[in-house]
Amino acid sequence: MGRGLHNGSGSKRRNALDGLLGGSILGAALSVRTAHAATPLDYLTAFGTRADGILPLTYGTLAISCLVMLLIAGLLGWALLRGRGAARMEDPRALAVARSGDGLPWIYIGVGVSTVVLFGAAAWTMVVLSTVARPAVKPKLTIEITARQWWWGVRYLSPDHERTFTTANEIHIPVGEPVAFKLASADVIHSFWVPALGGKTDVIPGQTNTTWLQARVPGTYRGQCSEYCGQQHAHMGFVVVAQARQDFDDWYRRQLEPAPPPTGDLVEAQATFAGKCGLCHAVRGTLIGGRLGPDLSHLKSRATLAAGTLPNNPGYRGAWIADPQHIKPGAKMPRLDISGPELARVQTYLDTLD
Ligand code: CUA
Repeated sequence: MGRGLHNGSGSKRRNALDGLLGGSILGAALSVRTAHAATPLDYLTAFGTRADGILPLTYGTLAISCLVMLLIAGLLGWALLRGRGAARMEDPRALAVARSGDGLPWIYIGVGVSTVVLFGAAAWTMVVLSTVARPAVKPKLTIEITARQWWWGVRYLSPDHERTFTTANEIHIPVGEPVAFKLASADVIHSFWVPALGGKTDVIPGQTNTTWLQARVPGTYRGQCSEYCGQQHAHMGFVVVAQARQDFDDWYRRQLEPAPPPTGDLVEAQATFAGKCGLCHAVRGTLIGGRLGPDLSHLKSRATLAAGTLPNNPGYRGAWIADPQHIKPGAKMPRLDISGPELARVQTYLDTLD
């Protein structure tokens, strides 16, 4: 292998250099720029106080890494060109080990520079970590997140039990205020991540981790589980909706409202829903209180289904209920033995949960 490299042709060497210089650095820079415009999980733009604190560190370490890459590539290229003219060694085993301290200064310089840069980056990281560890003011709102394969339970906590409620996969927060999160897992290790608002926090079974987020700009921010947690890890998304305090209060009040008592055809529709879905799902204000799946109170107010996998509209709701395993293989929601008329009645009932 080493022989092959040494005897490599000039064009091979050029390809290697192209790969180092063009492929890695330029390519990375370009992909960063396009990713910036195209992806909702872009972490190079911050819209929240916690992310604001981390962003300079991200760019700083990125710049340091690029500089080191350039430096190494440059030195490597220089060494390759310099070595070209050297006389071919008769016997490689006769390499003099103790030559006049020719290259030693380079080693001292390299070790010195690396040590300073690495310690500097480590110190900077620790300072940033401690500054973003907690918000400037104590959060008034605490949300308990329960990560499960493969969705997010969201519980709004309040000292007043009447003001506590549960929802799923969509977190609303008031803009400009810090919000505390308690993170628990019901099964395996997950990771809670809203890149535009802050860094990742692991969600670990058997312990409660905490984090906080504060949105600076109103908007809908994509969140994603960022710790591989099984087959549908990639389909374990959520959204954070940051809205003005008044809009948030209105949304909160609406979420607290129980489902209206069914009348007319809805009585049968609710009974079908209770029979087919009630073992796993809950609807506030009814006797339907399953705890295995997402709480479906006010389901229609949410933007997505199946943890950010599908848009939430009647067509996708029907497709999801009819065969969730086709859309999200391995998901805990089984394919139900449900007839066409039963599915229609379940749909009719879900349509009232707005
Ligand atoms: Cu949950 Cu990955």
